Amino acid sequence: MPVVSKLRVVPAHIAQRERQTVRTQIGIVGAGPAGLVLAHLLHLQGIESVVIESRSRKYIEERIRAGLLEHGTVDLLIETGVGKRLQREALTHHGIELRFNRRGHRIDFNDLTGGKTVTIYAQQEVIKDLVAARLEAGLPLIFEASDVSVHNFDGANPSIRFRVAGKAQELHCDYIAGCDGFHGICRPSIPAGVLTEFERIYPFGWLGILAQAPPSSPELVYTYHERGFALLTMRTTEVSRLYLQVPYDEEIDAWSDDRIWSELRTRTAADGNWKLNEGAIFQKGITGMRSYVVEPMQYGKMFLAGDAAHIVPPTGAKGLNLAVADVRIMAQAFAEFYKTGKTELLDRYSEIVLRRVWKAQRFSWWMTSMLHRFDTDNAFDERRQIAELDYVTSSRAAMTTLAENYVGLPWD
Ligand code: FAD
Ligand code: PHB
Repeated sequence: MPVVSKLRVVPAHIAQRERQTVRTQIGIVGAGPAGLVLAHLLHLQGIESVVIESRSRKYIEERIRAGLLEHGTVDLLIETGVGKRLQREALTHHGIELRFNRRGHRIDFNDLTGGKTVTIYAQQEVIKDLVAARLEAGLPLIFEASDVSVHNFDGANPSIRFRVAGKAQELHCDYIAGCDGFHGICRPSIPAGVLTEFERIYPFGWLGILAQAPPSSPELVYTYHERGFALLTMRTTEVSRLYLQVPYDEEIDAWSDDRIWSELRTRTAADGNWKLNEGAIFQKGITGMRSYVVEPMQYGKMFLAGDAAHIVPPTGAKGLNLAVADVRIMAQAFAEFYKTGKTELLDRYSEIVLRRVWKAQRFSWWMTSMLHRFDTDNAFDERRQIAELDYVTSSRAAMTTLAENYVGLPWD
């Protein structure tokens, strides 16, 4: 069911005989982490917005994606009043393990970053908390919108057109926030020649599963193995989230539950007292890997945030965190505009956020390059990767570099 609350609906005028028109300050396309956090931050600044989402509430609250939050993301959710359940239910981690040649090496975040941590709390839980906060406050969030399109953002009167429950609507706004993910409509609506794309596609993807099995290790284990990368992560103390590097064009049907467990056992094998906890697999899927950035992240009165403007391979756990970092700056820029009339921060939005985006790109690319097999026949690469892992797990300087990027670079 579409949810539309507290919209100021203005009767249609002659020019738009069949279209209901609505007015707000910021029109937000997409109710992922970027769109919902932006709407929340704007509300706290007294700025009106309408969020338009193409999927149902159930769909976005069940979509399996990220699980690891940087300390800055967690602080922001708590400080802005949407972190209560997170504080009760999330798991705090003080380090990770890098495993290769059957041995584990701990990277101690506490020691290396002055006490910073990361948090396991599934993306769909963040979404549930933000949706609940918005609807409880009676603020507009429209689900199941179809035929969404953006207009006039290079002029003075931007608008978003869409259909909901069969009715055509037009949302007029001061600015449009394109938070509609990698496959959304905002980025492709920018005229040809304005944007420059930077891209790297990897020859592999991740097969991810959720299993009813307690985590085998209290912290995440990133494993380099001659057969490929594996990652042991978790959702709760009862549910494991496990990933395997697979060829980019792999079919999920090629992976029976037995084959998945057998491969995970092989890749994560370690000397000493190690055992992989196994259990019923209740979700599995394959995701491709790419690095992608578009520059600039704005055009006229439309601003892009999150996956709509950039994608990172998941090895650094940066995608959701980067989406939140973008909209934090965007909300500040809108707040400055509505308080002072100045557009200085808005004008510099791309320049400011792209500095962090590229650092996250570099880190995600580096983690991916160090931990995955690119070419199984290349013995030189294998020796080089092992040497890199050996260095990263023995030099305090190298461990600090990994740790400070992993927990999240400072906001400003
Ligand atoms: P999205 O979450 O994609 O949200 C966009 C929203 O827009 C969606 O709800 C979509 O339905 C909606 N939409 C699309 N088109 C339209 C339209 N035309 N009209 C209206 N609405 C539209 N990141 C991390 O930080 N940590 C991790 O541990 C991590 N692990 C990951 C593991 C995997 C396997 C994958 C695939 C990703 C992972 N990520 C991780 C990345 C993270 O999930 C994304 O970066 C994050 O979802 C980006 O948020 P977003 O709001 O920009 O985009
Ligand atoms: C996850 O928990 O899903 C996760 C954690 C760390 C990553 C990627 C995914 O690097």
